[in-house]
Amino acid sequence: MEGLAIMTSGGDAAGMNPAVKCCVDYSRTKGFKPFLIRDGLRGLIDNDISEATKEDVSGIMHRGGTVLRSSREPRFYELENRQKAYDNLKALGITKLIVIGGDGSFGALNQFYADFQIPFAGIPATIDNDIPGTDYCLGVDTALNVIRESVDSIRDTANSFSRAFVIETMGRHCGYLAMVSALASGAEMCLVPEIEYDFESMGKRFRKDIADGRNYIIAIVAEGTNMADYTTRWIKDSLGMDARLTTLGHVQRGGSPTVRDRVMAYHFSVAAVDSLLAGQTKEIMTFKGGTYGTQPIDVVVNSKPVTDQSIVKLCKCLSV
Ligand code: F6P
Repeated sequence: MEGLAIMTSGGDAAGMNPAVKCCVDYSRTKGFKPFLIRDGLRGLIDNDISEATKEDVSGIMHRGGTVLRSSREPRFYELENRQKAYDNLKALGITKLIVIGGDGSFGALNQFYADFQIPFAGIPATIDNDIPGTDYCLGVDTALNVIRESVDSIRDTANSFSRAFVIETMGRHCGYLAMVSALASGAEMCLVPEIEYDFESMGKRFRKDIADGRNYIIAIVAEGTNMADYTTRWIKDSLGMDARLTTLGHVQRGGSPTVRDRVMAYHFSVAAVDSLLAGQTKEIMTFKGGTYGTQPIDVVVNSKPVTDQSIVKLCKCLSV
């Protein structure tokens, strides 16, 4: 029986556990012997790898994070450590890999393929939603729901206390989480790296609104802009409204995966196993324009992420 090992790598994301479960269960029905690698690339180097049991993957669908744990492992940049990883796989009869993570993890396995020709399939999972070529990455919907709940709660106190709140969302260099959250929560302001913002015109807009009776402001600011502190000070100093900053932080990475993340995990996992069965060697699973597919890792590595332009268009009025 051919060994197929499954790992989660990079920033954890809700939906990783359903994907692990589905990869194990489905690959077994296709004649593979599934293995689990713990702690991502660290476990690959340090041989923290074991054959998957039914118990390993039962009762994990609803759990946030990743039961396999994850890491960002700089040792994988060194050839001698990749050699160790290859020796570990060879000793266990593992000839194929599935990696659930982001573009950094895919790039690492691409290098591993170049070194040792171990085929892999990548399942996009990152709350940042910034992997080129796919409209969706596991974890995004759960993160958006966590943010929505937080912003709804903050709006209650903002309105009761006549205060502005600046809410900083994660996303690294991508403003997707901030933009969708701003639309979903009816925020008055949204600052993201994808859209040029104009404080002068926002000042005019808010001064008029305040004169017309506005008593609070919700501003969603993507961490990639680095503008959360400035915006909080600007609201106090330029608009004369008391303002507080809430940095949502890692709460956005946690939580039980939503239905969407669970179902997407199934689609991506079945496609990943099928891609390896079909003899593909380094494909990344995609969901693009409503269709599931795959794309070569080279496309991911050589492209820049493009944020959904229809969302960008809807948010432009929140930055001026
Ligand atoms: O990539 C996921 C992410 O949560 C980003 O949104 C954020 O910038 C980063 O990881 C935080 O990294 P760490 O967990 O290492 O602080």
